[in-house]
Amino acid sequence: MKPVIVLGNWKANKTLQEAQEWISMFSASAKTIAGITVILCPSYHHIPLFIDAKLPVSLGVQDISLYSTGAYTGEIAASQICEHISYALIGHSERRKYFGEDDMTVAGKVKQCLSMNIKPVVCMSQEQEARALVSKVSDFAKTGLILYEPLFAVGSGTPDTPENANATAKKIFEIVGNVPILYGGSVVPENTGSFCKEQYLAGVGVGGASLDAVKFGNIMEAATS
Ligand code: PGA
Repeated sequence: MKPVIVLGNWKANKTLQEAQEWISMFSASAKTIAGITVILCPSYHHIPLFIDAKLPVSLGVQDISLYSTGAYTGEIAASQICEHISYALIGHSERRKYFGEDDMTVAGKVKQCLSMNIKPVVCMSQEQEARALVSKVSDFAKTGLILYEPLFAVGSGTPDTPENANATAKKIFEIVGNVPILYGGSVVPENTGSFCKEQYLAGVGVGGASLDAVKFGNIMEAATS
């Protein structure tokens, strides 16, 4: 069985109390599963809770500043957070849409991650974004990951087909090189297995369904079954 990656992205959800409830539920219900890497990307203020809980998950953030430390109000620089997390989502379609992030910004943020040994998980919806990435960050393939998310599938309840997702992942693979490529967009326990079985998909990225600890645990099980 190939190793799989399951990444949860909480987006701007959960109070501290709700995060604590999720952690308690996850600790009580999730099974230890061999051959799986689980990455959870909550909001920044949840991270100390996860560190204290010592869950068997790697932590990530949902964004990182384009700048290093200094007078950049409201930002969190890679050097401020790198000792607490291992991954950072970069260029999620919601950041591209609501915060105007373009390929230049994405490349700059990826470079910030790489300079602090954070593994960037670059989100993209089309091959053109993969081309832009490798043209601007030549060493991306050393540590980077890709999360392929077609726009129509994000938060819609209508996922891409595993075959289409695999075909696009193959094209991205041919552009970027040998990096893990995840599929994201309306992933639920019921469709996880069919994405994870595809040749060019290394796992799944999960938004809405990651907010429920039991569902997220079910996705982890389905990813490896
Ligand atoms: P969704 O979100 O699972 O709610 O569709 C996916 C994502 O944006 O990563």
